[in-house]
Amino acid sequence: MQTDPLCESRIEKPHPVYVPRDEMFEEIKQNTFAAGRLKALLHNLVPQIAATLSSSDIPFKCFSDIDKLYNDGLLLKDEEQNEAKATQALANLMKEVLTVGERLLKYEIPAVISRDRFAWLRDNEFARQALAGVNPVGIQILKEFPILSQLDPAVYGPPESALTKDLIEQELHGMSVNQAIEEKRLFIIDYHDMLLPFVDKINSLSDRKTYASRTILFYNPAGALKPIAVELSLPPTPSKPWDKRVYTQGHDATTHWIWKQAKAHVCANDAGIHQLVNHWLRTHSSMEAYIIATHRQLSSMHPIYKLLHPHMRYTLEINALARQSLINGGGIIEACFSPGKYAMELSSAAYKSMWRFDMEALPADLIRRGMAVEDPLAPHGLRLVLEDYPYADDGLLIWSAIKEWVESYVDHFYSDPGSVMSDVELQAWWDEVKNKGHYDKRNEPWWPKLDTKEDLCTVLAIMIWTASGQHAAINFGQYPFGGYVPNRPTLMRRLIPQEDEPEYEKFLLNPQHMFLTSLPTQLQATKVMAVQDTLSTHSPDEEYLGQVNQLHGHWINDPRVLELSKRFSSKLEDIEKIIEERNKDKRRKNRTGAGVPPYELLLPSSGPGVTGRGIPNSISI
Ligand SMILES: [Fe+2]
Repeated sequence: MQTDPLCESRIEKPHPVYVPRDEMFEEIKQNTFAAGRLKALLHNLVPQIAATLSSSDIPFKCFSDIDKLYNDGLLLKDEEQNEAKATQALANLMKEVLTVGERLLKYEIPAVISRDRFAWLRDNEFARQALAGVNPVGIQILKEFPILSQLDPAVYGPPESALTKDLIEQELHGMSVNQAIEEKRLFIIDYHDMLLPFVDKINSLSDRKTYASRTILFYNPAGALKPIAVELSLPPTPSKPWDKRVYTQGHDATTHWIWKQAKAHVCANDAGIHQLVNHWLRTHSSMEAYIIATHRQLSSMHPIYKLLHPHMRYTLEINALARQSLINGGGIIEACFSPGKYAMELSSAAYKSMWRFDMEALPADLIRRGMAVEDPLAPHGLRLVLEDYPYADDGLLIWSAIKEWVESYVDHFYSDPGSVMSDVELQAWWDEVKNKGHYDKRNEPWWPKLDTKEDLCTVLAIMIWTASGQHAAINFGQYPFGGYVPNRPTLMRRLIPQEDEPEYEKFLLNPQHMFLTSLPTQLQATKVMAVQDTLSTHSPDEEYLGQVNQLHGHWINDPRVLELSKRFSSKLEDIEKIIEERNKDKRRKNRTGAGVPPYELLLPSSGPGVTGRGIPNSISI
């Protein structure tokens, strides 16, 4: 194949991707913990898992096969002498959750099943995870009916959804769709338009099958949110110009199993979008443009450089590592997540269709999704439509604390009117973020201006929130929720059998077999669990929001800034107490109740390891 002589070629291992010196991991990070662990995992453990399982890469045959990963562990093959050494190095690194010792790889029981072994099977848990799980940013209010696709009908068929009024009303206990919409009781997780253009491509990959899903959820008068219908779409073909199937929870054994299968397909859609869009694109990648512009345009003495400095730590290096070993062609993300080799294409398409700087502010995102409405009298200026929405409820506390800190800091340095406009470094910085960092979107009308100090505060709050609270909410629940494959399969390998297909009879005879053989294989699952575990780990030298590392604290040499910084820290300590109280409040069913885990992803502090809590200052894993 002819290659464009002007295009860049990738840097192959063992050469590392270039990262500026002051962005590189410090020794403790490099040699000892999370990132070192990620390297060890990718270079030693994953190949060993592959060597152990690839000759017999089979699906899980029964649920106890999955349990064995936590109870008995996986005996790694020791093919070469020197692997024993590598395994010992791994054993030293992976003490907390993954136990690797004497060639035995053992996983910790993930939080999602540690309190309640069967919660993942229930509809209310499915809905709870949409509000308090690892991807709490997909749910939106259903604003209008009928549901229509925006895709080109010439390619993707008629725009109407198969989710008709009649069908939904069967699940509304006597309420009409109009009334339910009016009372803000209907919600949707809609991956139709984002995924349908990829479905044929994904389904042509071997051993991988997907649909584009829509899930309708109903907040019933008893105060419980539940999924009531799932629509799974395939692109039109000449013989089937409209291929959309609707599944509901059902009341008999057959529909119950099919419903479970349909929900698993939704979870696989969700896992792909979470990883490629909400995690990689909207946090890791987005920060890069801000970091590069900050280094290029602001002097290290500039007050905004100093403010942003703790929020840029290690991000370029972790992204370089991810590009080389996680999201690379043929890498783990492609091997284990449903979009396969189209993973980056999906991420880019989402950037084109939905990424907007101004919507990365938590309040703006909640309002865009209809999950909150503006209310000047409410705290934070907005009211949640679903009060018990832990991510949003705790997130707004963090967002407001960041905003307040930024406002006080900016006020201190930009007291003169016009001082933001006349700051040439700052204007060049914002210009670079928009025009170079986001060249393709440079002419979008939604870019905030940078004329006043209020403009500056909004821009900075978005950047700091993205690096801290948003990334923490999206990142550190990966193993706690994804570590049990049936709860959150990262891909599906079979479509749901139709009644006229031979597979259907096999399904009736052994539905559990169909369910388990649709999930990732044992090799895919163990690889992805090891990666999710590592990505959910805090390093012992992690710097949390509101904390300033002694080594980096020299920038606060202004007593006023020191005072403001302390105020921010104590605000975060107060927030931690508020969240802990919320987690004990029995009225909050999405964080309390029999077997229900508390929502801790936005608790600011944490110890090292996989804790499912803690907001680091920056994206470093
Ligand atoms: Fe991350």
